[in-house]
Formats: sequence, structure tokens, C-alpha cells
Amino acid sequence: SNVTGRFVGCFKDERSDRELSFMKKLTIKNSVSQCVQLCFKYGFIYAGVEFGIECWCGHKIANGRKIEDKICQEMPCPGNSLQQCGGYLALAIHETGIGQPRFEKKTVLVREKQSNKSRIVFLLTLNGRAVRQVKRLLGSIYRPHHYYYIHIDERQNYLRTQLQQATKHLKNIKYAQWSMSTIWGGASLLTMHLKCMKDLFSFKTWTWDYILNLSESDFTIKSIELLENYLAVYSNSNFLRAHGKDTPKFVKKQGLEKLFVECDRHMWRVGERKIPQGIRIDGGSDWFCLSRKFVHYMVQNPDDMFISLRKYWEYSLLPSESFFHTILSNSAFCTTLVNNNLHVTNWKRSRGCRCQYKHLVDWCGCSPNIFTEMDRISPLRQHPIFFARKFDSTINQKTIAHSEELSGVKWTSQHSSFDYFWVNDYSSFEGRNEIKEIFYTNLAKLHSRSNDINLLNATLLFYEDNFEAVLIEYAKKDVVFEAKFKRKWIWSQDGGKVGGDRLVRITIGSDWDPKEEILRNWAGIVGQTTKIAIIHSWREGDTPVSATVVLVQPNGVVAAFKTETIDIKSHNLVFQPDLNLPLKPGKWSFLIFANEKKVARVSFVVLPMGLNPEFNEISKVEEFITNNLPEASPATESLNALSLVKSEWGFQGFCVVSGDNNNLCRNQIWSSHYPDPKSSTELIGGGLLRE
Ligand code: UDX
Repeated sequence: SNVTGRFVGCFKDERSDRELSFMKKLTIKNSVSQCVQLCFKYGFIYAGVEFGIECWCGHKIANGRKIEDKICQEMPCPGNSLQQCGGYLALAIHETGIGQPRFEKKTVLVREKQSNKSRIVFLLTLNGRAVRQVKRLLGSIYRPHHYYYIHIDERQNYLRTQLQQATKHLKNIKYAQWSMSTIWGGASLLTMHLKCMKDLFSFKTWTWDYILNLSESDFTIKSIELLENYLAVYSNSNFLRAHGKDTPKFVKKQGLEKLFVECDRHMWRVGERKIPQGIRIDGGSDWFCLSRKFVHYMVQNPDDMFISLRKYWEYSLLPSESFFHTILSNSAFCTTLVNNNLHVTNWKRSRGCRCQYKHLVDWCGCSPNIFTEMDRISPLRQHPIFFARKFDSTINQKTIAHSEELSGVKWTSQHSSFDYFWVNDYSSFEGRNEIKEIFYTNLAKLHSRSNDINLLNATLLFYEDNFEAVLIEYAKKDVVFEAKFKRKWIWSQDGGKVGGDRLVRITIGSDWDPKEEILRNWAGIVGQTTKIAIIHSWREGDTPVSATVVLVQPNGVVAAFKTETIDIKSHNLVFQPDLNLPLKPGKWSFLIFANEKKVARVSFVVLPMGLNPEFNEISKVEEFITNNLPEASPATESLNALSLVKSEWGFQGFCVVSGDNNNLCRNQIWSSHYPDPKSSTELIGGGLLRE
């Protein structure tokens, strides 16, 4: 049964000779052991130095009795504190109805507040194209007295040029002069981390104390000032998240006994190996905050142990998740570990562990989910956690705004574009992307009514966390236009009685993201070489439905179909048929039958790319399908990309990017040229909109 007790203690500060007592009422549930955290505030000035104690934590309580100290020792205390200070802490667990109070004397470390704040190098390792989200992150973490070292994946030219341009005026930002294709979980991630660390020692004017890594999908949930205070308490410590106690399980899960080789942007599993003997293997997460001294040892003054373990980890999957921990635990720095990577990660393993990286690594890796409003971030403020991951403005931007609020970033007014997000999907200066080029060029032609245009950029527009439209920027003679197009979904639905009313959405495209259960091909651009993916979403219902999904080619021939039972729960199902490529260009149809009755039909376009299509036909198709097939479309239609694009996309408006015109893009709220203060690096530190 539950036990209510009091956790009482007294505190005597020896220097000021002041005493303080405290009490916390606790209910211990059903004899289940739990860690206890006691928080109270006590600050004082002694000899002109500020001290304070805010919390003491870490006893495991079972059934009202303290049973163990060790497990909870690493339990984090709130970080937004004054300094921890000296004296004695006497604690008792005063149980109601169970025995006598027991007292214990415990020394609390004295830590003076440092006059010089720690200087941090924020190591940003970036991937993707969401430059506006990265700029927003910079807005939250940028302080002129810290440093910012940025590595951008070799393949992300767009992000690199845009970000470099946007941060030119900010001091203390440097970009790695080299770049690697740092694939997910690859050995190259550790090589990149160590190379960046080495670079830092060549920047003679950078006097830093810590290096802390962040990615494009991280965001702050507390202010950088609170982080500075926290780090000041733990000077020279190293912050890493350890896996727990079961090392053999960790080794197995990480594949540390397997030999991996990274080659051609893939981690190949080539065999078994023995883990190094005589050392403690540790690990858990690849987000770190490491002290200068430890980093100096690793990259400037390594010993034999470091060198041999480095070789071992050269052939390890997810190397940064265990390398730093293992080096730290086995080096002279072993006592400096604080088991906290300062991050909270949004793990939903049933979705995040769907072996989605098999095309990159010969292993089933997991990945955290994107925060949405359903995930509660605010309560985490009690813990010494300063960053959260992952965030993705194409999925949910509201949580970023919320995190900004938690981090003390305030906007004097919510500007009109606050709920908009823009991300570039095509830029002419990059390498060719044939299908996007065909698609966006045809949209530009549609607007200009001319073939003599020069496609410059295509941008995806999101509003209030929904995909809205594509924006095509193109030049015609000397004028640059931006035109907005919205997808016209042509679909019909009926058959409510047979369970078809449970069908809520059909999305057609490619790039299925099993973790977020979305198609990353937002504009749904399908060409002859696209591996089609279709999501059909069903709400809860009273009875199961036998759903048949059918893909029909422009000539009216079924290319693929699948029947599955949809139980009474809600489902987001994906249909990814294994079709022979290239596909037949033209108007395709996607049909859904519920209990053999047609309930929905959506048509979509496969853009011609001048390739000879392969044969796709199913030998045996059920009668209820053949009786309901759409008519074949005329053969000529299938080859005209412009008319195909026109049938699917509706023109919504245009503006002029520059010049003497009263329809300027900077005045059109949907335009990628409209002011977007939340993602503007011009305002960082300038205090124009931020309070
Ligand atoms: C993270 C950890 O990286 C991984 O070790 C752990 O097992 C799960 O959590 P995830 O969040 O999926 O995985 O990684 P992601 O954010 O995609 O990438 C991690 C870092 O690698 C980022 O800094 C990212 O910018 C970089 N990266 C990733 C690249 O530079 N290029 C890529 O192609 C992929």
C-alpha cells in the first residue's frame, strides 16, 4: 500500500554559520522504489562571493525507507540554480508508522560561482535544406562570447551557400573548410567530430572551455544563460549519456562486435570481431558536451589506448554513440563524467525503429521522432536539460515556437509570417535533378505561357503546419517572377455503408518516412523513375474492413494491387508496389475498394522523361476490380508534360521579385521573399524584434 512519509533534513553552512531545515512530504507508491529529489533554494553571500544551494537529490526509497544511494546518484538536479555550496546536509527519512527516523550526514561539495563564464563552442553538424530552421536555431543559441563551428554534409550545397551568406556578419562563426558525406550511423560521423575538434585548436583566438554538438533538428528549451550557469558549476566535467547497467545488451544492440566498413556512402557489415578486452565499454548517445582538457587529450595528445580504440571505432556503426564514453571511462578523465547529455530526445521506438536506414547501413537503426503538440516539452524544464530533439518545421513549427518561449526568446509581436515556413526544393545552381527540373519548369511555363524561361528556384510553402503550395521562381527576359501553385486533388469517394467512410486521406508520391508516417515528397512529383508510395489513412470503426488498393496505368491496365484487413483501430497504411521502372507516363489511377465495393478513386500524373516504359501487368485480377477500372486515357496525352502538370496543379497568384513594380514579392505574404523575422539572422543580437 502507499506510504506517506516526510523527508526531512537540516543544512548547516559552516562558513556563514547559518542553519536551514527543510521538509518534503512524500507518498511512496505500493512499495515501489523510487528516486527522490529534494529541491529548495538557499543563497547567500560570503566574502563577496555568491553561493547557494538549490537541490540535493539521489536517494532511492522503497516503502518509506531509504534503501540505496548509488542508483540515484546520477539523477540530475535542476540546472537553473545558484551554485551548489558547502556544509553538511543531514537527512532523515521520517516514516509515518514505520520505525524510527534514520539520519545520515552527507557532505555537499563547495563550488564557488566562477567569475568567468564558460565559453562554449557549438559544433553544428548540419544536413538537409531547411536553412530557415537552422537560422532560427542560431537565433536562439547565438551569443557573441561563444563560438560556432559548422560542418555541413558534403552533399548539401544549397544549405552551405545560403547559411554562409546569412551569417557573414556574425562574428565567431566559422565553417569547416572541408566536408564529408556523413551518412546516418556511419564511421564518418566520428571522423568528422574528431576532425572538427582538431581544427578548434588551430583557431588561436578561440578560447573555449566546452564543445557541445547540435544538429539541424535540435532546439533549445532553456536559455543559453542557464546553460552557462550550469556548466560553471561543473567546470571541467564531461557530459555524456550512458546506456545504463547492462553493457552486454548495449554492445549487442549497437553491433559493436560486428565489423563495419564505410564505403560508397554505405556501412557494410563484413564480419564478426572481438570487443577490446580489459576496458570498460560505455555509450548511449552521440550528443555531447566535452571539456577542452578532455578534447585536447584526444586530438592533441593521444596516448596508446586512445590510438588503439580509435582504430577499433573506425570500423564501428554509430561510433560517436560509444567512442567518447569509452575513451572517457578508461582514461585519466574517468571521474569527470556527468551522466547527462543535456538533451531530451523524443523516442517512440515502435515507429522510430522500423529498420528505415537499411539502404545506408546493414543494421536496424533507430531514430527519434519529431516533436508535435502531443509531446509535452514544458515539464522538462525542471531538469538540467537544455536542448530537445527532433524538430522539423515541415511537420510541426508550433513546437519550435514553444521551445523558443521556453528558452526566453520573445517576439515583441507575432509577425504576420510567423506561422509560415518555406523550404527550398530545387535550386538551379545545384547539380541536376531531372524529374524536379521537368516538373517545376513546366509549372513556370504554365504561368509564363512561354517556353523561353529560366527556372531558378522552387520552394515548398507550409502554413500552420500544413503543406500549402509550391512557389516557382523563374526569369523571363530580365524580370524574375515567383508564381504559386496548389495541388488539385481529383478524387471521388462513396460507399459509406461498406466501411468506406472510415477512409480519411490518400496521399500519393514517394519517399515514405516510416518514422513520421508521411511522404517526404511533399509536392508529390512522380516521374518515370519514381518508386511510388501511397498512404491511405483510415479512422477507427465498429467493424473491420477488407480493403483492396489498386494501381492502374494510363492504358487502363492494373499495375499492382493488394488486399488487407483493416481492423477497428485507426491506421496509416502505405502501399509501395514493386513496379518495373521506367513507368508508363501519363494519368494513373489509384482505386480503393472496401469489402469489394469501390469507395475512392484518385488520379495522378507520372511525368514523361523520354524513357521507354517497362511492362507492368498483373496476370490475375479479381472480377470486382476489372469491373470497375477507369477508361484508358488517350496515348498522346501521356506524353505532354505541360498538359499533365496543368491537369493537376492550379495557379494561385504571382509576384515580381525585384524592380519597379507594384506587385512585389516582398509584399506577398506567401512569397519566399516576404519578410520572415523569426528566421532572420540579420536580427540576431540586433534586438529589433527580440526583446
Ligand atoms: C540520432 C543519432 O545520430 C543516432 O546515433 C542515434 O542512434 C539515433 O539518434 P538521428 O536523429 O536519426 O539519429 O540522426 P540525424 O539527426 O538524422 O543525424 C545525426 C547527425 O548526422 C546530424 O548532425 C546530421 O546533420 C548528420 N547527418 C545525418 C549528416 O550529416 N548527413 C546525413 O546524411 C545524415
